[in-house]
Amino acid sequence: MKPIQVGLLGIGTVGSGTFNVLQRNQEEIRRRAGRGIQITMVADLDTARAKSVVGDGAKVVGDAREVIANPEIDIVIELIGGYGIAKTLVMEAIAAGKHVVTANKALLAVHGTEIFAAAHAKGVIVAFEAAVAGGIPIIKALREGLTANRIEWIAGIINGTTNFILSEMRAKGLDFDVVLKEAQRLGYAEADPTFDIEGVDAAHKATIMSAIAFGIPVQFDKAHVEGITKLQAADINYAEQLGYRIKLLGITKRRDKGFELRVHPTLIPSKRLIANVEGAMNAVVVHGDAVGTTLYYGKGAGSEPTASAVIADLVDITRLHTADPDHRVPHLAFQPNELANTPI
Ligand code: NDP
Ligand code: HSE
Repeated sequence: MKPIQVGLLGIGTVGSGTFNVLQRNQEEIRRRAGRGIQITMVADLDTARAKSVVGDGAKVVGDAREVIANPEIDIVIELIGGYGIAKTLVMEAIAAGKHVVTANKALLAVHGTEIFAAAHAKGVIVAFEAAVAGGIPIIKALREGLTANRIEWIAGIINGTTNFILSEMRAKGLDFDVVLKEAQRLGYAEADPTFDIEGVDAAHKATIMSAIAFGIPVQFDKAHVEGITKLQAADINYAEQLGYRIKLLGITKRRDKGFELRVHPTLIPSKRLIANVEGAMNAVVVHGDAVGTTLYYGKGAGSEPTASAVIADLVDITRLHTADPDHRVPHLAFQPNELANTPI
């Protein structure tokens, strides 16, 4: 069967990771998806840089609309970011009947209701595993693994940049600004890092999780949002002396009436697992009535960890799209591969 054709909009940190991982693991991904997945077109403002990433592997264009207009493209990946042109392009891709994969939590937390309604009306999928907690499959966990549960609350370290800053300030005594620059260099921070340090990015993610967990519309405007810019080295040191770590937590909770949705720095006893989540790592704790408390941990930002989640969405859509019923659901049926005859 012909590979599913994918158009990529924006080949920066996450886009280049997505292209590279898809190329590197293409055979394994093809086997799991039941069909090849190929990025055939890439749009970026900087076409020279895009060409240096993709080589001859895909057609590079400067205008994202060329990708959306191509009838051969089945799935559009939006990795531009922000609420501006990204929203217009996502809506245009949906209107053109394309499935959409995005890592853009800002867009979904603010305009998700409109976007999902448009996708529903058009019969296409908008998938967004990478929008929350980078490489951790938390959307899948909430929607699939925990689907039997009444979710009571979710709390987590869901911004890699701020966790990296707090960790480096505490462990190495580095200045806030120095560590923020390093987080930007490593590709963790948002294009506008105020979103990270003022708690807005974590609030976007908490908003998306609350919508999934509680079946409510995305309501970012209702979130209480407080970042880490008012914290000083002395606060971190005093907390340490008293046996605590300061972490920026995103919290959403079911209440007797309504829900809580908040992001703020929190004192956590240093012996707790979550207090020891360091660097750009994320950790999300979910409490369900049947399962109890569960913990999800992993890289919350960066090129390839986030690409891992983007590609998981591509595989899901490909499985649903393919005619082969064996691949519509992930399964453990034997599929011959290079390890088939090696001893265990
Ligand atoms: P980058 O800024 O690295 O990449 C965005 C790319 O899009 C840039 O190459 C940019 O070009 C390009 N671009 C801008 N406007 C257009 C346009 N109109 N048409 C085509 N290309 C355009 O961002 P990231 O890769 O870091 O982030 C992408 C998305 O992923 C964001 O929504 C972000 O929030 C999300 N995300 C990021 C994570 C991370 O760790 N970085 C983790 C999880 C999610 P130019 O540079 O020339 O402007
Ligand atoms: N800027 C975000 C972070 C990227 O630092 O967590 C991952 O969503």
